Amino acid sequence: MSDTFTKLTYQTLQQGKNYFSLAHKTLSLQLKNLTYPTLGQNIKPIPNEILLKLQQRLNQLLETDWQDAQKGVYPESLLFDNPWEDFFCYYPLVWLDLPQIWERVKQNKYQDFAPEIETDGYPSYYVQNFHHQSNGYLSDLSANLYDLQVELLFGGTADVMRRRILAPLKQGLKAFESVPPRQVRILDVACGTGRTLKLMRAVLPQASLFGTDLSPAYLRKANESLSQIPGELPQLVQANAEELPYLDDYFHAVTSVFLFHELPAAVRQTVIEQCFRVTKPGGVFIICDSIQLGDSPEMLSLMDSFPETFHEPYYKHYTTDDLVARLEKAGFENIEMQVHFASKYFIARKPA
Ligand SMILES: C[S@@+](CC[C@H](N)C(=O)[O-])C[C@H]1O[C@@H](n2cnc3c(N)ncnc32)[C@H](O)[C@@H]1O
Repeated sequence: MSDTFTKLTYQTLQQGKNYFSLAHKTLSLQLKNLTYPTLGQNIKPIPNEILLKLQQRLNQLLETDWQDAQKGVYPESLLFDNPWEDFFCYYPLVWLDLPQIWERVKQNKYQDFAPEIETDGYPSYYVQNFHHQSNGYLSDLSANLYDLQVELLFGGTADVMRRRILAPLKQGLKAFESVPPRQVRILDVACGTGRTLKLMRAVLPQASLFGTDLSPAYLRKANESLSQIPGELPQLVQANAEELPYLDDYFHAVTSVFLFHELPAAVRQTVIEQCFRVTKPGGVFIICDSIQLGDSPEMLSLMDSFPETFHEPYYKHYTTDDLVARLEKAGFENIEMQVHFASKYFIARKPA
């Protein structure tokens, strides 16, 4: 395929995903207004000029994604990697779950779990219906719907934003060029369903990959998806990011994607300190999470309504939190920041 044709195909696929999520949001909003007319009345529609600016930011993100593939940061095939089977299998269930979500929102229930779900032993901040998800992160259905729900939220750019950690990750690993590839260890903290580990495997086929998460259901899903990829299976462990079950200085690189906005402020600091502890001197720690206040004026109204629309109790504080200060307090240095569309990246080094 010529580059121009491949690029056009990629852009068309991404626009298709974007239009699909817009149609999904519009239809589900109409259905909600019909069945639950009083819900979410204080949430204002996004003005057209803001939508236009958002589209420009999204286009910039896609261009960066395309350019990174051209530069060889990752194979072009990654641009087209999509869990289609899951999409066809679970998209109808996203709709079937909506009435339960609206009913919970109507009743102001944000920590609502079915009796068969085991919630003992988890930190209280975690036992929440984040994103209004039925049974929070603690059911197999939630794990099966999660990737789809995130893609619908971000207009099909969730993996595109996750891919932005790959260039700094490869750059950070240059400090360990003398280490045989199989002995390079990378940990993804709060790996969820394993999307980031899957991306890492595509660019670092021999590295030893590790993933931790609190949710057994999400780890099961990650295991199911990662075991289909040839090569060594990443090691998945159920663990609280506040107490990582690894030796000091163990990993050449540590990453964490979309975790920090779901943690209370003090826990954010503890998790950063744990990540510092398990990173090797000279290693890199990369956070990918939501943009913060000041990063994007056009997104202010969305950021304002996000905690209520998606039940994100710690998001508001996150948007003003000085993560650079937290990283430095833990001991990291040379902290670099990047912003791509709706995400922000902190690339921090542990002193050699
Ligand atoms: C928004 S999801 C992000 C998942 C994944 N990193 C991604 O890119 O989609 C947040 C994840 O953090 C996990 N999580 C939240 N608090 C945690 C904690 N204290 N320790 C470990 N995992 C946690 C949840 O189980 C969930 O899988």
